[in-house]
Amino acid sequence: MAITAIKGFNDILPSESGRWQHIEQAARSVFERNGFSEIRVPIMEKTELFCRSIGDATDIVEKEMYSFIDKGENAITLRPEGTAGVMRAFIEHKLYAQDPVAKLYYLGPMFRYERPQKGRYRQFHQIGAEITGVHDPLADAQVLNMLVQFFRDIGLDEPQLQVNSLGCPDCRPAYRTTLMAFLEQRADALCEDCRRRMTTNPLRALDCKVPGCIAATAGAPSMLDNLCTGCSDHFASVRQYLDTTATPYSINPRMVRGLDYYTRTTFEMVTGLLGSQSAVAAGGRYDGLISQLGGPAIPGIGFAMGVERVALLLGDKDFARQPDLFIATLGAGERGFAFRLLHDLLQLGLRVEMDYEGKSLKSQMRRADRLGARYSVVIGENEVSSGRAHFKRMADGEQVEVMLIAEHIKQTL
Ligand code: HAM
Repeated sequence: MAITAIKGFNDILPSESGRWQHIEQAARSVFERNGFSEIRVPIMEKTELFCRSIGDATDIVEKEMYSFIDKGENAITLRPEGTAGVMRAFIEHKLYAQDPVAKLYYLGPMFRYERPQKGRYRQFHQIGAEITGVHDPLADAQVLNMLVQFFRDIGLDEPQLQVNSLGCPDCRPAYRTTLMAFLEQRADALCEDCRRRMTTNPLRALDCKVPGCIAATAGAPSMLDNLCTGCSDHFASVRQYLDTTATPYSINPRMVRGLDYYTRTTFEMVTGLLGSQSAVAAGGRYDGLISQLGGPAIPGIGFAMGVERVALLLGDKDFARQPDLFIATLGAGERGFAFRLLHDLLQLGLRVEMDYEGKSLKSQMRRADRLGARYSVVIGENEVSSGRAHFKRMADGEQVEVMLIAEHIKQTL
Protein backbone atom coordinates (compact mmCIF):
# COMPACT_ATOMS: atom_id res chain seq x y z
CA MET A 1 0.00 0.00 0.00
CA ALA A 2 1.26 3.49 -0.83
CA ILE A 3 2.41 5.63 2.09
CA THR A 4 0.29 8.69 2.81
CA ALA A 5 1.07 11.92 4.67
CA ILE A 6 0.61 12.16 8.45
CA LYS A 7 -2.92 13.09 9.58
CA GLY A 8 -3.29 16.87 9.80
CA PHE A 9 -0.17 17.50 7.69
CA ASN A 10 -0.90 18.89 4.23
CA ASP A 11 0.86 19.10 0.90
CA ILE A 12 0.63 22.49 -0.79
CA LEU A 13 0.13 21.44 -4.40
CA PRO A 14 1.19 23.46 -7.47
CA SER A 15 -2.45 24.48 -8.01
CA GLU A 16 -2.42 26.17 -4.56
CA SER A 17 1.15 27.42 -4.31
CA GLY A 18 0.45 30.52 -6.45
CA ARG A 19 -2.07 31.63 -3.82
CA TRP A 20 0.44 30.99 -1.03
CA GLN A 21 3.13 32.98 -2.81
CA HIS A 22 0.66 35.83 -3.33
CA ILE A 23 -0.04 35.89 0.43
CA GLU A 24 3.65 35.69 1.35
CA GLN A 25 4.63 38.44 -1.07
CA ALA A 26 1.86 40.75 0.12
CA ALA A 27 2.96 40.19 3.74
CA ARG A 28 6.64 40.77 2.99
CA SER A 29 5.75 43.93 1.09
CA VAL A 30 3.64 45.50 3.85
CA PHE A 31 6.12 44.44 6.56
CA GLU A 32 9.10 45.86 4.71
CA ARG A 33 7.27 49.13 4.02
CA ASN A 34 6.81 49.37 7.79
CA GLY A 35 10.52 48.77 8.46
CA PHE A 36 10.39 45.10 9.53
CA SER A 37 13.22 42.66 8.70
CA GLU A 38 12.92 38.92 8.35
CA ILE A 39 14.29 36.61 11.04
CA ARG A 40 14.56 32.85 10.52
CA VAL A 41 14.68 30.68 13.61
CA PRO A 42 14.72 26.88 14.02
CA ILE A 43 11.49 24.89 13.96
CA MET A 44 12.56 23.00 17.09
CA GLU A 45 13.42 24.49 20.46
CA LYS A 46 14.00 23.23 23.98
CA THR A 47 10.62 22.24 25.43
CA GLU A 48 11.23 24.48 28.43
CA LEU A 49 11.08 27.58 26.19
CA PHE A 50 7.43 26.98 25.34
CA CYS A 51 6.44 25.93 28.87
CA ARG A 52 7.93 29.13 30.27
CA SER A 53 6.49 31.49 27.65
CA ILE A 54 3.14 30.09 26.49
CA GLY A 55 2.36 28.85 30.01
CA ASP A 56 1.95 25.44 31.68
CA ALA A 57 -1.82 25.80 32.11
CA THR A 58 -2.61 26.49 28.46
CA ASP A 59 -4.14 23.97 26.03
CA ILE A 60 -1.07 24.27 23.82
CA VAL A 61 1.38 23.21 26.53
CA GLU A 62 -0.99 20.85 28.33
CA LYS A 63 -1.99 18.78 25.34
CA GLU A 64 -0.98 20.03 21.92
CA MET A 65 2.80 20.01 21.73
CA TYR A 66 4.85 17.65 19.60
CA SER A 67 7.49 16.96 22.27
CA PHE A 68 10.06 14.22 22.39
CA ILE A 69 13.38 13.24 23.89
CA ASP A 70 16.16 13.21 21.30
CA LYS A 71 19.08 10.79 21.12
CA GLY A 72 21.09 13.05 23.44
CA GLU A 73 18.32 12.88 26.12
CA ASN A 74 17.27 16.49 25.47
CA ALA A 75 13.60 17.50 25.78
CA ILE A 76 12.74 19.03 22.40
CA THR A 77 9.50 20.44 20.93
CA LEU A 78 8.40 21.26 17.39
CA ARG A 79 7.44 24.93 17.71
CA PRO A 80 3.69 25.46 18.26
CA GLU A 81 4.06 29.19 17.52
CA GLY A 82 6.71 31.71 16.50
CA THR A 83 6.96 34.39 19.19
CA ALA A 84 8.82 32.31 21.80
CA GLY A 85 11.61 31.27 19.41
CA VAL A 86 11.97 34.77 17.98
CA MET A 87 12.28 36.27 21.47
CA ARG A 88 14.73 33.51 22.48
CA ALA A 89 16.90 34.55 19.49
CA PHE A 90 16.43 38.26 20.30
CA ILE A 91 17.83 37.62 23.79
CA GLU A 92 20.50 35.09 22.80
CA HIS A 93 22.01 37.36 20.12
CA LYS A 94 21.50 40.52 22.18
CA LEU A 95 19.66 42.16 19.30
CA TYR A 96 18.65 44.84 21.82
CA ALA A 97 22.26 45.88 22.51
CA GLN A 98 22.36 48.66 19.92
CA ASP A 99 18.68 49.46 19.81
CA PRO A 100 15.95 47.84 21.93
CA VAL A 101 13.50 48.67 19.15
CA ALA A 102 13.56 45.70 16.79
CA LYS A 103 10.94 45.06 14.12
CA LEU A 104 11.03 41.43 13.08
CA TYR A 105 8.90 39.18 10.89
CA TYR A 106 8.94 35.46 10.18
CA LEU A 107 7.08 32.81 8.28
CA GLY A 108 7.04 29.06 8.40
CA PRO A 109 5.42 25.88 9.70
CA MET A 110 4.14 25.47 13.27
CA PHE A 111 2.92 22.27 14.91
CA ARG A 112 0.04 21.60 17.27
CA TYR A 113 -1.54 18.25 18.04
CA GLU A 114 -5.13 19.46 17.60
CA ARG A 115 -8.14 17.65 16.14
CA PRO A 116 -7.87 18.40 12.41
CA GLN A 117 -10.81 20.02 10.63
CA LYS A 118 -11.30 22.70 8.00
CA GLY A 119 -8.93 25.56 8.86
CA ARG A 120 -7.28 23.61 11.71
CA TYR A 121 -4.32 21.37 11.06
CA ARG A 122 -1.46 19.75 12.95
CA GLN A 123 1.15 21.32 10.73
CA PHE A 124 0.05 24.81 9.78
CA HIS A 125 1.84 27.95 8.68
CA GLN A 126 2.09 31.32 10.32
CA ILE A 127 3.29 34.68 9.07
CA GLY A 128 4.09 36.81 12.09
CA ALA A 129 5.55 40.17 13.03
CA GLU A 130 6.86 41.50 16.34
CA ILE A 131 8.00 44.95 17.59
CA THR A 132 10.13 45.08 20.73
CA GLY A 133 11.19 48.02 22.86
CA VAL A 134 8.17 50.33 22.57
CA HIS A 135 5.87 50.94 25.54
CA ASP A 136 3.94 53.61 23.69
CA PRO A 137 0.51 52.65 22.30
CA LEU A 138 1.75 53.91 18.93
CA ALA A 139 3.43 50.51 18.49
CA ASP A 140 0.11 48.75 19.12
CA ALA A 141 -1.61 50.97 16.56
CA GLN A 142 1.11 50.48 13.95
CA VAL A 143 0.98 46.70 14.29
CA LEU A 144 -2.81 46.74 13.99
CA ASN A 145 -2.79 49.07 10.99
CA MET A 146 -0.19 46.90 9.30
CA LEU A 147 -2.37 43.83 9.78
CA VAL A 148 -5.48 45.57 8.46
CA GLN A 149 -3.45 46.92 5.51
CA PHE A 150 -2.27 43.39 4.67
CA PHE A 151 -5.86 42.16 4.30
CA ARG A 152 -6.69 45.20 2.15
CA ASP A 153 -3.63 44.57 -0.03
CA ILE A 154 -4.71 41.00 -0.80
CA GLY A 155 -8.22 42.20 -1.58
CA LEU A 156 -10.17 40.83 1.43
CA ASP A 157 -12.62 43.02 3.35
CA GLU A 158 -13.17 40.11 5.73
CA PRO A 159 -11.88 39.45 8.39
CA GLN A 160 -12.65 42.15 10.95
CA LEU A 161 -10.49 43.51 13.71
CA GLN A 162 -11.52 42.95 17.34
CA VAL A 163 -9.50 44.38 20.22
CA ASN A 164 -9.43 43.92 23.97
CA SER A 165 -7.15 44.59 26.92
CA LEU A 166 -6.09 41.84 29.31
CA GLY A 167 -4.54 44.21 31.85
CA CYS A 168 -1.18 43.72 33.51
CA PRO A 169 0.32 42.06 36.60
CA ASP A 170 -0.94 45.03 38.62
CA CYS A 171 -4.63 44.71 37.78
CA ARG A 172 -5.19 41.20 36.41
CA PRO A 173 -4.73 39.22 39.69
CA ALA A 174 -7.57 41.14 41.36
CA TYR A 175 -9.78 40.63 38.31
CA ARG A 176 -8.93 36.92 38.30
CA THR A 177 -10.05 36.64 41.90
CA THR A 178 -13.32 38.46 41.12
CA LEU A 179 -13.93 36.24 38.09
CA MET A 180 -13.08 33.10 40.04
CA ALA A 181 -15.65 33.99 42.70
CA PHE A 182 -18.24 34.58 39.93
CA LEU A 183 -17.44 31.20 38.32
CA GLU A 184 -17.49 29.31 41.61
CA GLN A 185 -21.10 30.38 42.14
CA ARG A 186 -21.97 28.88 38.75
CA ALA A 187 -19.61 25.90 38.80
CA ASP A 188 -22.45 23.40 38.29
CA ALA A 189 -23.36 25.00 34.96
CA LEU A 190 -19.77 24.90 33.62
CA CYS A 191 -18.26 22.17 31.47
CA GLU A 192 -15.68 19.82 32.93
CA ASP A 193 -12.79 21.68 31.27
CA CYS A 194 -13.86 25.05 32.67
CA ARG A 195 -14.40 23.59 36.14
CA ARG A 196 -10.92 22.11 36.04
CA ARG A 197 -9.39 25.39 34.85
CA MET A 198 -11.41 27.55 37.22
CA THR A 199 -8.45 28.00 39.54
CA THR A 200 -5.52 27.64 37.10
CA ASN A 201 -6.83 29.68 34.15
CA PRO A 202 -10.30 31.10 34.93
CA LEU A 203 -10.26 33.56 31.99
CA ARG A 204 -10.58 30.66 29.57
CA ALA A 205 -14.18 30.17 30.71
CA LEU A 206 -15.05 33.44 28.89
CA ASP A 207 -13.85 31.91 25.66
CA CYS A 208 -15.43 28.45 26.03
CA LYS A 209 -17.70 27.46 23.13
CA VAL A 210 -19.90 25.05 25.15
CA PRO A 211 -23.46 26.54 25.19
CA GLY A 212 -23.86 25.97 28.96
CA CYS A 213 -20.66 27.94 29.65
CA ILE A 214 -21.67 30.76 27.30
CA ALA A 215 -24.97 31.11 29.17
CA ALA A 216 -23.39 30.80 32.62
CA THR A 217 -20.75 33.47 31.93
CA ALA A 218 -23.04 35.93 30.10
CA GLY A 219 -22.99 38.42 32.98
CA ALA A 220 -19.39 37.80 34.02
CA PRO A 221 -17.34 40.79 35.19
CA SER A 222 -15.24 42.24 32.39
CA MET A 223 -11.49 42.85 32.45
CA LEU A 224 -12.14 46.21 30.77
CA ASP A 225 -14.07 47.39 33.84
CA ASN A 226 -11.21 46.32 36.10
CA LEU A 227 -8.14 47.81 34.39
CA CYS A 228 -5.67 49.89 36.42
CA THR A 229 -5.18 53.52 35.35
CA GLY A 230 -2.04 52.71 33.33
CA CYS A 231 -3.75 49.94 31.34
CA SER A 232 -6.95 51.90 30.91
CA ASP A 233 -5.07 54.96 29.55
CA HIS A 234 -3.02 52.72 27.28
CA PHE A 235 -6.13 51.10 25.82
CA ALA A 236 -7.80 54.49 25.33
CA SER A 237 -4.74 55.75 23.41
CA VAL A 238 -4.65 52.66 21.18
CA ARG A 239 -8.30 53.24 20.29
CA GLN A 240 -7.64 56.92 19.67
CA TYR A 241 -4.79 56.13 17.26
CA LEU A 242 -7.02 53.64 15.44
CA ASP A 243 -9.70 56.32 15.15
CA THR A 244 -7.15 58.85 13.88
CA THR A 245 -6.24 56.51 11.03
CA ALA A 246 -9.88 55.53 10.41
CA THR A 247 -9.04 51.89 11.07
CA PRO A 248 -12.26 49.93 11.60
CA TYR A 249 -12.41 47.75 14.75
CA SER A 250 -14.75 46.59 17.45
CA ILE A 251 -14.13 45.90 21.13
CA ASN A 252 -14.59 42.32 22.28
CA PRO A 253 -14.36 42.29 26.08
CA ARG A 254 -14.65 38.49 26.16
CA MET A 255 -11.62 37.87 23.96
CA VAL A 256 -9.19 35.63 25.80
CA ARG A 257 -6.03 34.41 24.15
CA GLY A 258 -4.77 30.84 24.40
CA LEU A 259 -1.25 31.91 25.42
CA ASP A 260 -0.30 33.25 28.84
CA TYR A 261 2.27 35.86 27.88
CA TYR A 262 -0.13 38.64 26.94
CA THR A 263 -0.47 41.94 28.77
CA ARG A 264 -2.69 44.90 27.87
CA THR A 265 -3.71 45.03 24.19
CA THR A 266 -4.86 41.78 22.55
CA PHE A 267 -6.59 41.42 19.22
CA GLU A 268 -7.93 39.04 16.60
CA MET A 269 -8.91 39.33 12.96
CA VAL A 270 -12.17 37.41 12.94
CA THR A 271 -14.20 35.93 10.10
CA GLY A 272 -17.62 34.33 9.98
CA LEU A 273 -16.70 32.36 6.86
CA LEU A 274 -14.59 29.55 8.33
CA GLY A 275 -16.96 27.94 10.83
CA SER A 276 -15.50 27.54 14.28
CA GLN A 277 -11.99 28.51 13.14
CA SER A 278 -12.88 32.18 13.22
CA ALA A 279 -9.48 33.72 14.02
CA VAL A 280 -7.48 34.34 10.86
CA ALA A 281 -4.80 36.31 12.70
CA ALA A 282 -4.23 37.13 16.32
CA GLY A 283 -1.77 38.70 18.70
CA GLY A 284 -1.12 41.18 21.43
CA ARG A 285 1.31 42.89 23.73
CA TYR A 286 3.69 40.84 25.90
CA ASP A 287 5.54 43.31 28.12
CA GLY A 288 6.82 40.67 30.56
CA LEU A 289 7.86 37.91 28.17
CA ILE A 290 11.41 38.96 27.35
CA SER A 291 12.42 39.33 31.00
CA GLN A 292 10.57 36.11 31.85
CA LEU A 293 12.82 34.35 29.34
CA GLY A 294 15.96 35.73 30.99
CA GLY A 295 16.37 38.89 28.88
CA PRO A 296 16.18 42.56 29.86
CA ALA A 297 12.88 44.23 30.76
CA ILE A 298 11.91 45.14 27.20
CA PRO A 299 8.26 45.17 26.08
CA GLY A 300 6.95 43.60 22.88
CA ILE A 301 3.87 43.35 20.71
CA GLY A 302 3.05 41.33 17.62
CA PHE A 303 0.73 38.98 15.79
CA ALA A 304 0.64 35.90 13.63
CA MET A 305 -1.78 34.99 10.88
CA GLY A 306 -2.67 31.46 9.83
CA VAL A 307 -1.72 31.14 6.17
CA GLU A 308 -4.09 28.20 5.54
CA ARG A 309 -7.00 30.32 6.83
CA VAL A 310 -6.03 33.33 4.71
CA ALA A 311 -5.76 31.02 1.69
CA LEU A 312 -9.24 29.59 2.41
CA LEU A 313 -10.67 33.12 2.51
CA LEU A 314 -9.07 33.93 -0.84
CA GLY A 315 -11.02 31.01 -2.29
CA ASP A 316 -10.41 29.46 -5.68
CA LYS A 317 -9.11 32.58 -7.35
CA ASP A 318 -6.35 31.39 -9.67
CA PHE A 319 -2.95 32.86 -8.85
CA ALA A 320 -0.96 30.58 -11.18
CA ARG A 321 1.17 32.60 -13.58
CA GLN A 322 0.42 31.76 -17.21
CA PRO A 323 3.11 31.62 -19.90
CA ASP A 324 3.46 34.61 -22.20
CA LEU A 325 4.12 32.36 -25.17
CA PHE A 326 3.86 28.74 -26.23
CA ILE A 327 6.18 27.70 -29.09
CA ALA A 328 4.87 24.81 -31.19
CA THR A 329 6.99 23.12 -33.84
CA LEU A 330 5.93 21.35 -37.04
CA GLY A 331 8.77 18.84 -37.24
CA ALA A 332 11.89 17.56 -35.51
CA GLY A 333 14.02 19.79 -37.77
CA GLU A 334 12.74 22.99 -36.14
CA ARG A 335 13.13 21.94 -32.51
CA GLY A 336 16.72 23.20 -32.21
CA PHE A 337 15.68 26.60 -33.64
CA ALA A 338 12.66 26.76 -31.33
CA PHE A 339 14.76 25.81 -28.32
CA ARG A 340 17.19 28.66 -29.04
CA LEU A 341 14.33 31.10 -29.35
CA LEU A 342 12.91 29.83 -26.05
CA HIS A 343 16.30 30.29 -24.41
CA ASP A 344 16.69 33.87 -25.75
CA LEU A 345 13.17 34.84 -24.61
CA LEU A 346 13.69 33.35 -21.14
CA GLN A 347 16.86 35.43 -20.87
CA LEU A 348 14.77 38.53 -21.56
CA GLY A 349 12.43 37.64 -18.70
CA LEU A 350 9.46 36.24 -20.62
CA ARG A 351 7.63 33.10 -19.50
CA VAL A 352 7.85 30.67 -22.39
CA GLU A 353 6.91 27.01 -22.88
CA MET A 354 7.48 24.63 -25.77
CA ASP A 355 6.69 21.07 -26.70
CA TYR A 356 9.25 18.62 -25.33
CA GLU A 357 8.30 15.42 -27.09
CA GLY A 358 7.51 15.99 -30.77
CA LYS A 359 3.75 15.67 -30.27
CA SER A 360 1.22 16.40 -33.05
CA LEU A 361 0.43 20.06 -33.70
CA LYS A 362 -3.09 19.49 -32.38
CA SER A 363 -1.86 18.13 -29.08
CA GLN A 364 0.72 20.93 -28.79
CA MET A 365 -2.04 23.52 -29.19
CA ARG A 366 -4.14 21.71 -26.61
CA ARG A 367 -1.22 22.03 -24.17
CA ALA A 368 -0.87 25.76 -24.98
CA ASP A 369 -4.56 26.13 -24.11
CA ARG A 370 -4.28 24.10 -20.94
CA LEU A 371 -1.35 26.19 -19.73
CA GLY A 372 -3.31 29.37 -20.45
CA ALA A 373 -0.57 30.81 -22.72
CA ARG A 374 -1.27 34.38 -23.82
CA TYR A 375 0.25 33.86 -27.27
CA SER A 376 1.26 30.87 -29.38
CA VAL A 377 3.45 30.55 -32.44
CA VAL A 378 4.00 27.63 -34.81
CA ILE A 379 7.53 27.21 -36.16
CA GLY A 380 7.96 25.21 -39.40
CA GLU A 381 10.50 25.22 -42.23
CA ASN A 382 9.03 28.42 -43.72
CA GLU A 383 9.33 30.33 -40.47
CA VAL A 384 12.93 29.20 -39.99
CA SER A 385 13.97 30.21 -43.50
CA SER A 386 12.08 33.53 -43.62
CA GLY A 387 12.91 34.46 -40.00
CA ARG A 388 9.28 35.60 -39.47
CA ALA A 389 6.22 33.98 -37.94
CA HIS A 390 2.61 34.67 -36.98
CA PHE A 391 1.99 35.06 -33.28
CA LYS A 392 -1.57 34.25 -32.27
CA ARG A 393 -3.23 35.96 -29.32
CA MET A 394 -5.03 33.04 -27.71
CA ALA A 395 -7.88 35.07 -26.19
CA ASP A 396 -9.30 36.24 -29.55
CA GLY A 397 -7.26 34.50 -32.26
CA GLU A 398 -5.81 37.80 -33.53
CA GLN A 399 -2.50 37.26 -35.36
CA VAL A 400 0.54 39.50 -35.79
CA GLU A 401 3.59 38.80 -37.91
CA VAL A 402 6.86 39.35 -36.07
CA MET A 403 10.53 38.79 -36.90
CA LEU A 404 11.90 35.82 -34.98
CA ILE A 405 14.32 37.91 -32.95
CA ALA A 406 13.83 37.77 -29.19
CA GLU A 407 13.87 41.57 -28.65
CA HIS A 408 11.23 42.11 -31.37
CA ILE A 409 9.02 39.41 -29.96
CA LYS A 410 9.28 40.84 -26.46
CA GLN A 411 8.21 44.28 -27.72
CA THR A 412 5.20 42.84 -29.51
CA LEU A 413 3.81 40.49 -26.86
P1 HAM B 1 -2.37 32.02 18.02
O1 HAM B 1 -3.68 32.72 18.22
O2 HAM B 1 -2.15 30.78 18.79
O3 HAM B 1 -1.25 33.10 18.35
O4 HAM B 1 -2.17 31.70 16.49
C1 HAM B 1 -2.22 32.72 15.53
C2 HAM B 1 -3.00 32.27 14.30
O5 HAM B 1 -2.45 31.03 13.81
C3 HAM B 1 -4.45 31.93 14.56
O6 HAM B 1 -5.25 33.10 14.55
C4 HAM B 1 -4.78 31.02 13.40
O7 HAM B 1 -5.08 31.78 12.23
C5 HAM B 1 -3.47 30.28 13.18
N1 HAM B 1 -3.55 28.92 13.78
C6 HAM B 1 -3.36 28.58 15.06
N2 HAM B 1 -3.50 27.24 15.22
C7 HAM B 1 -3.79 26.73 14.01
C8 HAM B 1 -4.04 25.41 13.50
N3 HAM B 1 -4.00 24.34 14.30
N4 HAM B 1 -4.30 25.27 12.19
C9 HAM B 1 -4.34 26.34 11.36
N5 HAM B 1 -4.10 27.61 11.77
C10 HAM B 1 -3.84 27.80 13.08
C11 HAM B 1 0.10 32.85 18.27
O8 HAM B 1 0.57 31.85 17.79
C12 HAM B 1 0.94 34.01 18.75
N6 HAM B 1 2.35 33.62 18.64
C13 HAM B 1 0.66 35.26 17.94
C14 HAM B 1 1.49 36.41 18.41
C15 HAM B 1 2.59 36.90 17.81
N7 HAM B 1 1.29 37.12 19.50
C16 HAM B 1 2.23 38.03 19.60
N8 HAM B 1 3.04 37.90 18.58
